[in-house]
Parts: sequence; structure tokens; C-alpha cells
Amino acid sequence: MCGIVGYFGPQDPKEIIVSGLKRLEYRGYDSAGVAILHDDKFKLVRASGKLGELQKKLATESFNGRLGIGHTRWATHGVPSERNAHPHKVEGISLVHNGIIENYQQIKSQLVADGVQPSSDTDSELVAHLIARKVKVTGDLFKAVQQVLPELVGAYSILVVWEKQPDTMVAFKNGPPLIIGVGEKETVVASDVQAIISCTNRVIYLEDLEIARIRGTKVELFTAGGEPIHREIKVINWNPEQIEKAGFKHFMLKEIHEQPRAVANALAPHINVDSQRTQLTGVGFGCASFEELERLDSAKDALLTAEKLSAIERIFIVACGTSFYAGMVGKYLLEKIAKIPVECDIASEFRYREPVIPPRSLVLVVSQSGETADTLAALRLAKSAGALTMSICNVRRSTIDREAHGHLYMNSGPEIGVASTKAFVSTLAMFDVLAVYLGRLRKAIGEIEERQYVEAFLEVPSQMEAVLAYDKFFAEAADRLKAFKGLLYMGRGVSYPLALEGALKLKELAYMHAEGYAAGEMKHGPLALIDERMLIVMVAPKDQHYEKTVSNLEEARARGGKIISIGTGNDANLKSISDYYLSLPMADWTVNPLLEAIPLQLLAYHVAEALGYDVDQPRNLAKSVTVE
Ligand code: G6P
Repeated sequence: MCGIVGYFGPQDPKEIIVSGLKRLEYRGYDSAGVAILHDDKFKLVRASGKLGELQKKLATESFNGRLGIGHTRWATHGVPSERNAHPHKVEGISLVHNGIIENYQQIKSQLVADGVQPSSDTDSELVAHLIARKVKVTGDLFKAVQQVLPELVGAYSILVVWEKQPDTMVAFKNGPPLIIGVGEKETVVASDVQAIISCTNRVIYLEDLEIARIRGTKVELFTAGGEPIHREIKVINWNPEQIEKAGFKHFMLKEIHEQPRAVANALAPHINVDSQRTQLTGVGFGCASFEELERLDSAKDALLTAEKLSAIERIFIVACGTSFYAGMVGKYLLEKIAKIPVECDIASEFRYREPVIPPRSLVLVVSQSGETADTLAALRLAKSAGALTMSICNVRRSTIDREAHGHLYMNSGPEIGVASTKAFVSTLAMFDVLAVYLGRLRKAIGEIEERQYVEAFLEVPSQMEAVLAYDKFFAEAADRLKAFKGLLYMGRGVSYPLALEGALKLKELAYMHAEGYAAGEMKHGPLALIDERMLIVMVAPKDQHYEKTVSNLEEARARGGKIISIGTGNDANLKSISDYYLSLPMADWTVNPLLEAIPLQLLAYHVAEALGYDVDQPRNLAKSVTVE
């Protein structure tokens, strides 16, 4: 889950690498470091803690070389400290690593037996030792890497440089992503395109067990066995402005405010505005209208067709974290609208529970990053079991996107805040469309119903705009809200996963105790938690569950709990039994979750802010969890 950046070119490598690391800090922020050429040697500067600590150290450093590498760390082996920070330097070799070398004990024993004394507790340094030993024999970095690669077991992406070849970087990977940006006069290697796009939008994606030899601006790819590979350069459509804060205090706040646009972008390719009907557009559905999608491997086109989809008898939705909660909403939508049985699983459970996946199953994996290790493993398991697979990702050409048979895109643009917001609502929008589309295919809904759903979907971005006004409310209320000993979030139906998501957001950001519950479960335990120091957040839109939810709220109130309720319109009843009442626009049940997400996110954001925590980078967490 660490972030890697490498740069060769005419600009100041220090500036490019540090600004790239800034973009990758979401991947880990336990320590950071750079190794940059200076007087033909790699000068190492590393610091424990967030990137700011490294920047302080670098303020007085200058480098006269054109080549450098950098790293921001999420600790796996070895505590967060300067000693364990990357890059690791062994003789003339400097190396950065993202991932886990699983056979590191074995490698370490061998190295120690040969007289090597590691200077850190990391698995990564050992790889630098292996390469340093080989390069003495081969006299060439690329050849040394080729010989070391078969010795490594695990998931890793590695970038390495050698003083004796000061125009060369060698990159190789198995698992976590590595992308090479190919500019006219410069080359950037990074874990994510966000660290590349300020230099170039032309990129090459490295695949597993491939090695890239980058000499100046010449990029060559090889298989682990040394066979040359031809890979097309892709042009990416994100622009540098999208990754700035645009005047907001945090990326998260900016991303919350971007949600109406994100949802509109998610819906746009899949709704025919003239006919008010759904269409699933994209590779795998035989009607790739996105120019850029057409350039993807066309063989995939046939893998997931409307015909195959209409024969599906069961759906499994598999994901982690916030994406999992979006999947839970998906289950309600798909079952109710398309009348198809759906199971929803946490990826780390699914992959090990030996799931029975009957023929004609669709396994739908949801992942903003497209790189989450457990979700990827679940996808691979599903494919090996013969299931049809489909991904809902935000990052195009991420590993999950590339490996699934069919693809839907969140289209949210870069999401940088560690806690997911806009990708969540975009996923909800995708499930809305998918449920209605499958409902039509399976003849579970008629044309008129479909039009009604589509109308509701098209209205939601502007309804979301209105809900964003609660930003001010939570900014003012946060000081009072942060004083509660805990929060209990509840809802029913599609609002139940929203209760879970609201509680998760608060835990992630404000480090407060919060529980999400199905409101109907209140009497089975949570009621015991309630007293005047407990804040209850009840998501109670006017839907089929409304009356029951209100009764639950009465019960909570009778036990002295303080209440924030989130309801529909001017609901005098809810108002009278709540300490704070937040009104959402009248909307169809299918889109209520998109509206409900906003106050829940704003609550967590402002309480965390009021407590003085770093909202964009909550402690111990990372945005992209590429290890188990
Ligand atoms: C991490 C992030 C969450 C995210 C989850 C799944 O825990 O902090 O915000 O929901 O991973 O990530 P994915 O990229 O697979 O959606």
C-alpha cells in the first residue's frame, strides 16, 4: 500500500518526486524518503512520519543529477521509523518497494549466513541486497533484476536504480500497480497515474511478472524470461486540475461537494435521455461508445453480452469497506427490481469460505481503486470457478478492471481522500442503472416503470446539490456532536447499509465509537447502549419502512438517547421526536441512499475536523489496500 515515484528528465527530480509522493500519500504515510543522484552518487534523505517531515529535511538539500526515486510508506515489516523508511540503499543500488515479500525470512537467513547485516527490519532491503550482489556479476542492472526475480515470492512492485547506470531505472511487479509515464523528454514511474499526470498523460501499464527497462526516455518491456513485449501507450483523460483541492480545506470536502457531478457522470453513459431508458454502455456489452474503451482489448468485447446477462440466475457482489456497503445497497436494488437472488460478501471472507458458485452466476466486484488485494483475489477465484464476472471500478485499467469480463465505471474522477465518498455514491448510481437494466432484460419491469426509475435517477444530481447545504449545519453543530460518548446509526431497507456506512465514516475519521445497525435489530442489543450520552442517527426517509423506523426512534428516545434524524421533506412527526431533524428532498426509494450519504459524510468530516484530526489521512489507514 506504499507509494512509489521515479523520475528521469530535465526538471528538478526532487520537485517532481516530492509532488508525486504528495499525490500518493493516500497510499501510506508512516515515513517517506528519496534517493536522488548528486555528483554521480545517490543521496538518500528519509524521514519518519508524514511527507511534511521529509519536505522539511529536503528544504536545504539540492541535487545535480537527473534521476531519482521516492517512496511513501505504509508499514508492513518493521515499525514506522527512519531506519525502516525507503529507499533502501545497498552499495550503489537504491530501491523502493510496495507490497510484501512472503519468503523474506528465508532470504534473510541466507543473506545473514553469507555475512550480510541488514540495516533495517524490512523485507524490502533484502531485495536491494540480492540485486547488489547480482549486479557485481552482471555489470548490468536489468540483468541483475532478471536473475533476482525468480527468487521472490509475494506481492510486490519495485523500482530500482544503480549509480553505475545513471540514466536507467528498472521496474518490476507482481500484484500492486506500477505505471510508466512517457513524456517527450522525461519518464516518470509511479504507483498511480495521479503522480504522473502533471508531467504527461501518455502511460504504459506494467503487468505482473514483467520487467521494464527505462533508459532515459526509452521504455522497453520484457517478460521475466527476457522476451521483449510490445505494449501500446495509453492516453489518460484525467487532468492535473482534478487532483487539486480547488479552494476546499480538504480533498474529502471537495470530493463530497463533487458528488452531484460524479453521479451525473456515472449515469450519463447508461441512460438514453431521449427514450428515458437504461443501456449498459461499455466494453463487454457490445456497444462500446467511449472512444477510449474501444481501444481496450477488443477480444474482451464478447465476454459479457446482454444475452449472457439475461441468462444469469444469481449474483454475488463482493467488495471491501465502503465499496461493500455500496454492494449491500446493490443487493436490495437488484433483488427488488430485477428479481434476481443476490448474495453480498466481504471479499476477505468470500475468498476463503469456499463459496458455492452455481452455473449462470455473475460475480460483481466493486472497487474504487481496482487494486484491493482481497477483492482481486475474489475476482480470480470467481473466474477460476467458471463464473461470469463484472467489475465496477473508478480507476480504469486497474488490475480488477483489466481482469473482469465486463466493466462498469464509477466515472467519479480521482478520489484522493482516504475515506471514500464520491466513489460510493457513483457506485450506488451504477447499481440503480444495473438493477433497472437487468429488470428489463428479465422482464421483471415494464417500459413505464423503467421510465419512472430513469426519471428519478436523472433528478438525483440536482437533489444532491440541495442536500450539500447541510455542510454549514454540521460545521456549526460539530462541537456539540463531538462530545457524545458514541453514536448509533440505524436504518431499514436500503437505508440500513447507509447506517453502516455512516458509522464507518465516523470511526475512520473521528476515531469515535460508532455502530451501524438495522433499526429492526435495536431491541436485540443496541437498546442497552442508549442513554443521554449516546447520539442516535436515524435514517428514516418516507419509504415503505417509515412507520416502523419511527417506532424504533420513539423507543430510543424513551431511553434518553439524543436524536439526529434524516427524513423526507418537512416531516413534522420526525421533527417533534428528534433533537436535530435534517430534511432530504422527496425522492424515489432507489435514490434515497445517494441523498442520505451526504449528511452522514458531512457529520463525520466536521466532527473529525472539530477534534483536530487529519481528515484526508486518518491514522493507520490507507486508501488502496493492496495487501491482505
Ligand atoms: C480502504 C479505503 C476505503 C475503501 C476500501 C475498499 O479501506 O480506506 O475507503 O472503501 O479500502 O477500497 P476499494 O478501492 O476496493 O473500493
